[in-house]
Amino acid sequence: MLTSRIVGTGSYVPEQIVTNDDLAKIVDTNDEWIRTRTGIRQRRLVTEEGTSQMAAKAAKRALEQSGVKPEEIELIILGTSSQDYCFPSGACEVQAMIGAVNAVCYDLSAACTGFVYALNTAHAFIKAGIYRTALIIGSDVLSKLIDWSDRGTCVLFGDGAGAAVVKADETGILGMRMYSDGTKGDVLICGARTNGNFLLGKKPELGYMTMNGQEVFKFAVKKVPEVIRQVLEDTGTPMEEIRYFVLHQANYRIIESVAKRLKVDMEKFPANMEYYGNTSGASIPILLDEMNRAGKLNPGDKIILSGFGGGLTWGATLIQW
Ligand code: COA
Repeated sequence: MLTSRIVGTGSYVPEQIVTNDDLAKIVDTNDEWIRTRTGIRQRRLVTEEGTSQMAAKAAKRALEQSGVKPEEIELIILGTSSQDYCFPSGACEVQAMIGAVNAVCYDLSAACTGFVYALNTAHAFIKAGIYRTALIIGSDVLSKLIDWSDRGTCVLFGDGAGAAVVKADETGILGMRMYSDGTKGDVLICGARTNGNFLLGKKPELGYMTMNGQEVFKFAVKKVPEVIRQVLEDTGTPMEEIRYFVLHQANYRIIESVAKRLKVDMEKFPANMEYYGNTSGASIPILLDEMNRAGKLNPGDKIILSGFGGGLTWGATLIQW
């Protein structure tokens, strides 16, 4: 069966660590509140780097591991909601930075579900026989979209990038599903920075991220188990066969609740938000790369990737490693 296989992973996080105690100096919060509500202890934040630079660093590491040369890449999809420019796309910038001269490149906007949407989209191209080799990246610098005086959001997020090289093969992605619900867009939203209007005499304003935390929480713990069950049902895969559930790293309590609803042991739900916070589109590929480099993924292992976020968007992919 023609499918798509991940043949290399890479990730990159900025050097600068910002702890919960650091944030307690700028907003009315504390380490205990943040840790117990979210599982986050610290995050990495950029100083000089942008979304595309981080994406290119993660991409280079994935290429190195895969042995695929930049000129062999036919498609680059960058899942991001924090592009450095309106245009050119971040994916085109990455193309230039890594020398992927033969690739078609574009960004995909699905907030924290960006990597899963991008991977599934590349898979569709590969399955259709249009491309054979793709580079998928999730990279976000949400620190530039955050209102740093809003304690309800600023403690949750971090910056980072993760990437995967995907090739046509006989084994790999076994199934996938994606969903969107545009009627709930306002529960997790970031205004545009270019909303000026000449005729109405409106000056452009800065837009910041706002969130209804409890609505997002309820959405995630309902929709993630649902979409995972659907992918398993589509492919006739029993839940017990899944070695790991690699979920978007938004919040440890969301993961615990998903595990409980699926009746699966937490041992199968790796987590690293403790160190990076919620890195949006980057969280799944960063975790996947860490697991891959730690030798935790063995050929034949079945793993689920599942993302959820603004849009609202959510989805899941079943992979045989
Ligand atoms: N530090 C201290 N107190 C805080 C705080 C912070 N950083 N942020 C909010 N609070 C306060 C609130 O103001 C509120 O105070 P009040 O009772 O005096 O009004 C209290 O804590 C409880 O707020 P609430 O929003 O009910 O907390 P919660 O238990 O729902 O936890 C989240 C808040 C954000 C941690 C939780 O809703 C969540 O994890 N949601 C999902 C968010 C997410 O993952 N988003 C990204 C998805 S991609």
